[in-house]
Parts: sequence; C-alpha cells; structure tokens
Amino acid sequence: MSATNEQMIGRAEVDDVNAILAVTNSDVDEVAHAVRAEADAIFTWDYEQSRKALHKLYEKAKTSQWNANDLPWDTEVDQEAVAIANRALNGFGDQMDFKGTPFENWGDKEWIEFGVQSQNWTLSQFMHGEQGALICTAQIVETVPWIDAKYYASTQVMDEARHVEVFARYLDTKLSGHYPINAHLKMLLDDIIADSRWDMTYLGMQVMVEGLALAAFGFMHQMTTEPLIKKLLRYVMSDEARHVAFGVLSLQEYYQQLSASEIRERQEFAFEAAVRMRDRFLQQEVWERMGVDVKEAVKVVLTAPDRPIFQGLLFSKIVPNCKKLGLLDAADGWLRQRFTELGVIQFEDWVDTGEEYTTLDEVAKDREQAVA
Ligand SMILES: [Fe+2]
Ligand SMILES: [Fe+2]
Repeated sequence: MSATNEQMIGRAEVDDVNAILAVTNSDVDEVAHAVRAEADAIFTWDYEQSRKALHKLYEKAKTSQWNANDLPWDTEVDQEAVAIANRALNGFGDQMDFKGTPFENWGDKEWIEFGVQSQNWTLSQFMHGEQGALICTAQIVETVPWIDAKYYASTQVMDEARHVEVFARYLDTKLSGHYPINAHLKMLLDDIIADSRWDMTYLGMQVMVEGLALAAFGFMHQMTTEPLIKKLLRYVMSDEARHVAFGVLSLQEYYQQLSASEIRERQEFAFEAAVRMRDRFLQQEVWERMGVDVKEAVKVVLTAPDRPIFQGLLFSKIVPNCKKLGLLDAADGWLRQRFTELGVIQFEDWVDTGEEYTTLDEVAKDREQAVA
C-alpha cells in the first residue's frame, strides 16, 4: 500500500498554506535539541578498499582540505549596499504589482530592511543545515558497512565542521542578526537523523539536502557582488560537490539489491524531503519579523512571476541525481509524477553530480595559480 500525502507530509494538499504556516518553531530560545537515533553502529572486518570510485573520492578529499582562516575576512561588508544590489538583480519587488498585498505601501526603507533580514535568515539557515550535515555524516561513519565509505565520510565530517564555522563567522562578524532554525528544515533533519536505515541518511542528506544546498549556493554565488561571501560559497561548493557525489555513488550500488517496495519507500522519503525544503524557502520567519500578514505575504511569494524559475533552480541537482538512482521511474514513475506536480521535472536531464566535483574544485585551481 502506498502512503497518503497525509502520512508523508502531514497534509492532504501540497499547497495548503494554512497547514504550511501552522508548522512553526515552538521554542526559539532553546540552546540544545535532542533527536533519538536508533541506528546500529557497524564494525566491518573487511578492510579491503574495493570500491574504486569511493576510494578516488577519498583521495581527492584528503588533498582538497582548506582552512577557514584563509578566506579574506578583512573584507568590509556593507549589508545595506548588498541588499540594494541583490534587489536590483533578483527582481522580486520590481516588476510586480503589489496593490492589495502586504507590500502595497512599502518604500525603499522597507525593501532594504527586508533585504537585510533576508540575508540574516538565509545565512542562518545555511549554518543550521550545515550542522545537520555534520551530525548526519558523523552518523554515516558509524552506520555504513563499507570501509571505503567510512573513510570518505570521515573527511566529510571535517568539511562540514568547516562549513558551520565559516557561516557562523560570517553571520557574527559581517551581518546583523541570527534566526533560529526554520521549522520545516528542522523537521526534515530530525526525520533523517531518526531513521535507522543508513541509506536513508544518505538519501536525505547527501542527495536531497546537499543537492539543494549546492544549487542554492551556486545561485547566491552567481548573484552576489560581495567578494567575501562569493569566495566563501565557492569554496564550500567545492566540498559539497564531492558530498553529493558520495551519496550518488554509494546509493547507486546499494539500491541494486533493494526490492520494489523498498525502493518505493525511498521515493516517498525523497518526496517528503522535497516538500519540506520547498516549504522552508517561503521564509515565513522573515515576513513575521517584517510585521506583515504572513499568510498574505506567502501567497504573493507563491504566485510571483519568477517563483517557478527560482524554485526550479533549487531542484536542478536533485532531479537528475534521483533519475540516476532510478528513483524517478520506479513504481510506474511515481516520483516523476510528484516532481512534475512540484514543477521541477524539467531538470531531469541536467548534469548529475556523480563526476561534477572535479570541475567545481576551486580550491585546487587557486593552488595551481599560486604555484604558477
Ligand atoms: Fe556543507
Ligand atoms: Fe556537505
């Protein structure tokens, strides 16, 4: 029997705005959050490095480590100027008619403040997501049964510590405030960590969350004119491309032996993750802080003319990777149908991330240049 929307995402209609907004962070002052992980920690006595692609990735990771201190932290960041430049580029607010919406009376002051809050929120969610990756990958070191994967995952743990570090440092020294974790993101991370099946950690984190992060970082990297965040994102992307490749390579092998019903459960988990991530990008906490009617604001966001483009881009890595893993077309194309409804299926033939990490390696390029 297949799961209903209610069972997978807690609501019957994907676009039910009331249900989306009913999910909020109920304890914004908490300093620690516990999730019970039920997975077994697995020793392997087979030390043979037999998985060539994973071995190659591990060797690459060892030579691609970088130090957060080497980024140009002395760069002066004028957050309002960045907000103005971003607005000119991203279009939200420019070509739209806001009559009858919460933005009807917004002038430059409000739009700049919104831009500033948006940066604070976006970088905060990146930071929280990176901590999710740190925890998930440490979990994979324990739970995956293959020695090559344990080796590789250990390098990713170091990468993720560095990512949390750089986003936290950027927020503390260059921006003007933090946001707690978005409730949809938190729900997704909790589900991934709590699942006892090691491959679900990979699917949730390496394929879905990191696939989206890679696209989101790429989008921001392209848009921004602020040199420090540009460099920071580019370095983080060099690592993330390896992480997504790690997920794709591992799951490709593992899925071969799964039954049709087990694959179907993976499809449902991918769908749940996709919806949670889409919900998080409605940035309800920013609207709340701006003092506008959150529901009305979210409705405007959902119907903005450039929304499908932005939302689609976020899924531009996830969809081809799901296709490569066979998740799109299994069970009579169940996930293909879902991704079509979410409006993201057009990316299925974009480059998948199994090999992309070699071309995205900015760290190696910089080192070659320094030597030359
Ligand atoms: Fe990361
Ligand atoms: Fe990562």
